[in-house]
Amino acid sequence: MDEDQLTALEALPKIELHLHHEGAAPPAFIRQLAHEKKIDLSRIFRDDGSYDFRDFVHFLSVYEAATSVLQTPEDFARLTRAILQESAENGVVYTESFISPDFCGGSDLGAWREYLQAIKEAADQAERDWGITLRGVSTVIRHFGPDKAKASALCAAETAGDWLVGLGMGGDENQGEQGDFAYSYDMAREAGLQLTTHAGEWRGPQEVRAAVLDLGVSRIGHGVRVIEDPATMDLLIERGVTLEVCPGSNVALGVYPRLDQHPIERLRDAGVRVTVSTDDPPFFHTTLRREYRNLAQCFGWDQEVFGQVTQTALEAAFCDEDTRATISKRLETS
Ligand code: ADE
Ligand code: ZN
Repeated sequence: MDEDQLTALEALPKIELHLHHEGAAPPAFIRQLAHEKKIDLSRIFRDDGSYDFRDFVHFLSVYEAATSVLQTPEDFARLTRAILQESAENGVVYTESFISPDFCGGSDLGAWREYLQAIKEAADQAERDWGITLRGVSTVIRHFGPDKAKASALCAAETAGDWLVGLGMGGDENQGEQGDFAYSYDMAREAGLQLTTHAGEWRGPQEVRAAVLDLGVSRIGHGVRVIEDPATMDLLIERGVTLEVCPGSNVALGVYPRLDQHPIERLRDAGVRVTVSTDDPPFFHTTLRREYRNLAQCFGWDQEVFGQVTQTALEAAFCDEDTRATISKRLETS
């Protein structure tokens, strides 16, 4: 594929379904807030200014340290604007980001409402300025345990609506079981939220099966290790579950050594619904444009394949039908 073709593919309009709000914070943004608040965060940065982490568990602790400077609704409003400007520059027309009551006021409902309002106002302004639409997916943190998750999910359930559209779970997949969080997921479902969870990133296909059977999710964050079990792949296909695949993240964190060993193409070939996202782009030195370029170079994905993947993402988005129709039009005219 020549450079002109790659540039054209990079420029396609995109949908991103798996983006962590705090994880999308540019290191310079976090350093600036740390400076303003006189917090010493030098230990989480390399000399070249990028985030410094050794492995997944260390990544989670660096992530939480970076998040510690985000202390007010205004901080999150500034972050929202920075993230959406970057995403719009990458050709993203619709995105869903993970935000957590744990990081926005410590799962206090009154505080959470204020954070949510500030994020939503910043997103509305970004939509007017740059034509990008954001919806929120409230997130429980697995390694904080099921009790904290209940408080967090209650905040989500109380604020479910047109803007806050889903519940997800991130954090350390090696702690506890998906089913430990069933109470939180049931509460969210009853409140009208749609459901996703990180699974099959670190643990194997049994985790993906548990996500579907024990939590009833319609999407899965990563899910890539389902490739190791055809029966669980069939379960995903039968139920129309969509994977939020983040190839650059998986390579950066060492789930797969190189992109050419990543299963995204084999999953797609088998009929599993796959979409493409960045996860925590500055941590993994990626952007959605870069993901597109890499997939085109590595697997020969062309405009037709990217078009199918975007259509899958449009169908799997948690937004309401009016928003889906608006995004569909935006994709046609971009
Ligand atoms: N939180 C932020 N990024 C994550 C990832 N890749 N897996 C689990 N939790 C996360
Ligand atoms: Zn993630």
